[in-house]
Amino acid sequence: MTEPLLRTHELSRRAGDKLIVDHISLDVYAGDMMAILGKSGAGKSSFLRLINRLDEPTYGTVYLDGQDYRQLSPRELRRRVGMMMQAAYLFPGTVADNVRFGPRQQGIELTAPEIDELLESVGLKGFAGRDVTRLSGGEAQRVSLARSLANRPEVLLLDEPTSALDERAEREVEALLTRVIRDYKLTCMMITHDTAQAARIANRAILIDAGRLVENGTVEEVLHAESVLQ
Ligand SMILES: Nc1ncnc2c1ncn2[C@@H]1O[C@H](COP(=O)(O)OP(=O)(O)OP(=O)(O)O)[C@@H](O)[C@H]1O
Ligand SMILES: [Mg+2]
Repeated sequence: MTEPLLRTHELSRRAGDKLIVDHISLDVYAGDMMAILGKSGAGKSSFLRLINRLDEPTYGTVYLDGQDYRQLSPRELRRRVGMMMQAAYLFPGTVADNVRFGPRQQGIELTAPEIDELLESVGLKGFAGRDVTRLSGGEAQRVSLARSLANRPEVLLLDEPTSALDERAEREVEALLTRVIRDYKLTCMMITHDTAQAARIANRAILIDAGRLVENGTVEEVLHAESVLQ
């Protein structure tokens, strides 16, 4: 039996007197594309933010490749566990500046051809010198993805990565994600409100309700449970 690449153990976060993430234990295996479903306010983003320690758990922990993540520095953790959110938070400057940032923090200087190659892999050939303020929403999301990939992550966390895009850009970014996940052999956890999207790209799914993990199974099983819950 192989060990999970990522394991959350009773992961919890209390805000005031409310448990917004309530003792979630979950195993994610290498190569999984795990969809995270649930109503608005269920605690999906809060759960994901705990996984790369954008927020601190108030109880429980995460094991990355068997190691308690509290033994890793936040920088090391965020290199290994990348995050892509609904809106791309890019730093002011050029596309290349953004892609260079993560590796530079570890003392690695990407060469211009390496940056070009990363950009090409996300469909942004020739964008290295572009100012980020002059990108479309879909292009900015691609830069955000390239910036994550530059760190050579093992796990990619995606919080509704396509929901702020129009339908055409959404399909393009989704197709790109599918390809990049395969090419880079990434393990992913992706929050989506779009059940059709979950069915298209995920192999596993969970359902979160009121901070708790209430379903864990195939996408079909979880979509069925979700429809019962509504
Ligand atoms: N810092 C905080 N302090 C108090 N409550 C919070 C905090 N952050 C989030 N919450 C609450 O925790 C609950 C879960 O929020 P969260 O953003 O994780 O939900 P979500 O499932 O991602 O929802 P959506 O689908 O709308 O993005 C909500 O009730 C929210 O109001
Ligand atoms: Mg959310």
